[in-house]
Amino acid sequence: MKKVLEARAVRKTFEEGTQRVEVLRGVSLDVSRGEIVSLEGPSGSGKTTLLSIMGCILTPSAGEIHIGGERISGNERALRDARRKSIGFVFQQFNLFPALTARENILYALGIKGHKGAKGEVEADRVLDAVGLSDRKHFLPRDLSGGQKQRVAIARALAGSPDVLLADEPTANLDSVVGVQILDLFRDLARSENKGLIIVTHDPKVRRVADRVTGIADGLILPEAHAA
Ligand SMILES: Nc1ncnc2c1ncn2[C@@H]1O[C@H](COP(=O)(O)OP(=O)(O)OP(=O)(O)O)[C@@H](O)[C@H]1O
Ligand SMILES: [Mg+2]
Repeated sequence: MKKVLEARAVRKTFEEGTQRVEVLRGVSLDVSRGEIVSLEGPSGSGKTTLLSIMGCILTPSAGEIHIGGERISGNERALRDARRKSIGFVFQQFNLFPALTARENILYALGIKGHKGAKGEVEADRVLDAVGLSDRKHFLPRDLSGGQKQRVAIARALAGSPDVLLADEPTANLDSVVGVQILDLFRDLARSENKGLIIVTHDPKVRRVADRVTGIADGLILPEAHAA
């Protein structure tokens, strides 16, 4: 399988006054098209930090990010393109604008990614259909269930057809049954749209859909993960 997103020997140190916190201490992780990788680790182990660096919204202290085999670290233009075209984010809290309908939330994100006008509207309807929400597209977030809100957030991440989806604890705010539905949706999308998907999680259900399980602790990938 072809690696679509790769972190190579990534380090991250936060400096707070005189204190230095070494959060990532040389971490490598990759995902291929159509593949689901689960990233598990205790609170504070650096999962969100790693996901943010791989999503090009946080700069590593050392190491490299490659997209489609191309090194993009340090290249501002490539980083901006990656954020807009290559990567979609899904968060635990959904992060929808409360005053915008499901469709408007997606159109707003598409606008930022440079898809405006009629083309954007066609794309918004495509991704709403892909997550099974065509009949709820004019609903405000407050009139949607938790699972439906997460579907909107997944549709927003899919909009513009990025190669990779990065999800940070996407089932943590959902009950168990709805969590399974969302994970099944992720699996179907990874397969049908050939996306690479990294899911950061504490939820053991994610292992049902993961092709590979990777552990992180104290800023290092656990050794058994390499054997998996
Ligand atoms: N901007 C920052 N400045 C200073 N320290 C930070 C910053 N962001 C994260 N950290 C520290 O980095 C460590 C890892 O944080 P991170 O959010 O990556 O953990 P996590 O594995 O996602 O944890 P959780 O499961 O609780 O979400 C924590 O000790 C945190 O305090
Ligand atoms: Mg986190």
